[in-house]
Amino acid sequence: MKQYGFTLEGKHALVCGGSAGIGEASARVMASMGAKITVLARRKDRLTGLLPALENEGAARALALVADLDDRDGLERLLSEHLAQHGPVHIWINNTGGPAPGRLVDADEQDFEKALGRHLFASQRILKLVLPGMEAEGYGRIINVLSTSVRQPIPGLGVSNTIRGAMASWAKTLANELPAGITINSILPGFTMTERLASLAQSRAESAGIGVNDVEDAWVKSIPEGRLGKAEELGATIAFLASPAASYIRGVCLPVDGGRISCI
Ligand SMILES: NC(=O)c1ccc[n+]([C@@H]2O[C@H](COP(=O)([O-])OP(=O)(O)OC[C@H]3O[C@@H](n4cnc5c(N)ncnc54)[C@H](OP(=O)(O)O)[C@@H]3O)[C@@H](O)[C@H]2O)c1
Repeated sequence: MKQYGFTLEGKHALVCGGSAGIGEASARVMASMGAKITVLARRKDRLTGLLPALENEGAARALALVADLDDRDGLERLLSEHLAQHGPVHIWINNTGGPAPGRLVDADEQDFEKALGRHLFASQRILKLVLPGMEAEGYGRIINVLSTSVRQPIPGLGVSNTIRGAMASWAKTLANELPAGITINSILPGFTMTERLASLAQSRAESAGIGVNDVEDAWVKSIPEGRLGKAEELGATIAFLASPAASYIRGVCLPVDGGRISCI
């Protein structure tokens, strides 16, 4: 039954947006399962500071790749070099910073172009670089970090809501196209305590003329579990989907939100 277990020994995971928040937490959990981890983000100091912690957690090896998903040509060059030097990845956590908040009626074309570039176009570039290695290794797990807005749009996140829908369709289409043994799934985080959530709470408080605590209290009231999520709880779900135990889960969007969204 070991083939259906939770170990990630012998697996190499690429964690995009790995310097903070949900990405970092997923890297830590997968490290504790024995994976070799590459964390990718822009802040070199955050990434290099994280490497010893990942190895202490149990990572076979921890590597940093400093790259900007907004610079797709640079990303392609750096990731190609990294894969040539450190070997193929079996697991790709497709994660990055969310688009700026704001109402859709106030957004302009550049806002969509930026968000599409960072989310959809960068995803397509990375897919083409990691897929051949997954096929050669006969093991692939792609896990997208999206949002509950895929099911229920969130007020004040107009561009984000729109982009998440596109990403969910991208993933579901790939779930039909990818070869057997290479799965793609998406997680839909609810309100999770990270830098992103802190900045959203600040911007919501400023636009409504209320305190940050009031914003957070209202969020908590909307969550049946009665509290905000921890990044580690999202990280654990991602690590499960990355493991052999999740071999027959394919093309799903899984809310990890303490029960907040009200649709089935
Ligand atoms: N937290 C929540 O409540 C929540 C809820 C629903 C959806 N989400 C979504 O889930 C994703 C992760 O959320 P989070 O809360 O963990 O966000 P976070 O704390 O802001 O972390 C974002 C990560 O992405 C990296 N990143 C941002 N822009 C990048 C770029 N251009 N190139 C490379 N890396 C980049 C950041 O690192 P560097 O700055 O070092 O590059 C950081 O590691 C986001 O898309 C977010 O919108 C979050």
